[in-house]
Amino acid sequence: MKINVKKGAITEAATEAAVVIQFEGEAGLCGAALHLDEKCGGFISDIMNQGDFTGRLNQISVIYSPGGGTAKRLVVVGLGKRLDISLEKLRGAFSAAAQKIRSLNVREFSTTLDFGNIGLPTDRVAEAVVEGILLGLYRYRPFKTVDREEIREISEFTLLVGDGKAVKTIKDAASIAEIIAGAVLFARDIVSAPANAMTPTVLAASARASSRGRKIRCRVLGFGAMKKLGMNALLGVAAGSDEPPQFIIMEYRGGGKSAPFVALVGKGLTFDSGGISIKPAEKMDEMKSDMAGGAAVIAAVRAAAELGLPVNLVGLVPATENLPGGKAYKPGDILKSLSGKTIEVVTTDAEGRLILADALTYAGRYKPSAIIDLATLTGACIVALGDHVIGMMGTDEGLKKEIREAADTTGERVWELPLWEEYDELIKGDAADYKNSGGRAGGAITAGAFLSKFTGDYPWVHLDIAGPAWLKKDRPYIPKGASGVGVRLLLQFLRNRYQHPHPDPPPPGERGL
Ligand code: BES
Ligand code: MN
Ligand code: ZN
Repeated sequence: MKINVKKGAITEAATEAAVVIQFEGEAGLCGAALHLDEKCGGFISDIMNQGDFTGRLNQISVIYSPGGGTAKRLVVVGLGKRLDISLEKLRGAFSAAAQKIRSLNVREFSTTLDFGNIGLPTDRVAEAVVEGILLGLYRYRPFKTVDREEIREISEFTLLVGDGKAVKTIKDAASIAEIIAGAVLFARDIVSAPANAMTPTVLAASARASSRGRKIRCRVLGFGAMKKLGMNALLGVAAGSDEPPQFIIMEYRGGGKSAPFVALVGKGLTFDSGGISIKPAEKMDEMKSDMAGGAAVIAAVRAAAELGLPVNLVGLVPATENLPGGKAYKPGDILKSLSGKTIEVVTTDAEGRLILADALTYAGRYKPSAIIDLATLTGACIVALGDHVIGMMGTDEGLKKEIREAADTTGERVWELPLWEEYDELIKGDAADYKNSGGRAGGAITAGAFLSKFTGDYPWVHLDIAGPAWLKKDRPYIPKGASGVGVRLLLQFLRNRYQHPHPDPPPPGERGL
């Protein structure tokens, strides 16, 4: 998709479709809509006066051949009440407008950010608008072979900027949004791909391909290297599959030579059948998405490098299948993890925490200033919180606060679950140090408690994305299926931490250490 940003007025634009917004409950038209209305003989105010269009959030009205205008169509999109405006609503509304335009088989449109005063910084508004459009138009189509010519795509849109001095700011914001949205779409593609097309080997290849030409050093440990290191928790999970496991390492050094690393760790189960503790057949197909955390990490490292963020970043993705093959690990087995700690396998379906245990231990090699892991870890997290929110647990108050801030900006919201030591009791092993399941009660928390045993003393946050990673219904700007959740959250966290000068972190005592 080609994105243009240029000085100009929507009233003068020779375009297939001009998108303007309107707030709910405002008698007068705002900004660009007003100018267009004046020029087109009151078309917009007519439909509003007749009650056809109220400005309700994401409501759309298409007006054809408005006299006097240079646009062939006028697409008016409702934004709800002006006082309730947010970046999230802008993303959704512009996605709705773009989807409508695509459904009309129109391939190009123009819009403007002239909304009157909405109290949001222009660069953020531009970012949200571009993100909403790019994310909302996503579809996963590589395996559709029939009637491909009917697949309609918008190829170009233009942001018109009235004030010439703002063009540069908006251009920069649009390029940032394009990189970030590109990374989200990349993650969605990886997650949407079926497990026969997205094996651990293919996932590793796409991490390598993402690193090429982007100042990222990518290494992949195979079976032999993992065995030698002693990643036996990961290898235990991998034993039941003929697909070789891969341990993906992506290092991006955008920060100073001696600056500490931030470590991102993502669960990379390219398919989770449950193993010997096999899952019910119903919806098992959705377990092709059990590498959503890994996809988010690969995509975030890629975008951090493209954005040139001044951070030293390492992405770690343990990748394997969980299948009940003849050599599969079994309930009752005891695995000696990379950390040396032993784990009793209560169920082979609690495999994510096993591969993450070894990856979190490996992250310690970098002595990171923060470890953030993302994983479609527990059904219990979906039961507890639903699919609108990420379950957050962690050991560091400051880091959790940073994640919360990034979550609110991006709309990839988090909700904290407690990691009180009482929960440790539930994951104590009988014959080994720990067991890999604490039972049904508090399942998301006991999974987090388990991970905490492998994070060393590094500031750490665990994000359980089992709910929002795979959506059953369309959302504004997130079509159903793979959402790419986590990518924007991680990037916003990194931008907040490294692009704006930050006050000194609070002393360790206040960080909950
Ligand atoms: N990948 C699943 C969690 C999951 C379930 C993600 C549904 C998305 C949708 C994970 O590996 C798993 O199977 N967890 C078990 C743990 C239990 C056996 C302790 C679960 O949540 O049931
Ligand atoms: Mn599982
Ligand atoms: Zn899983």
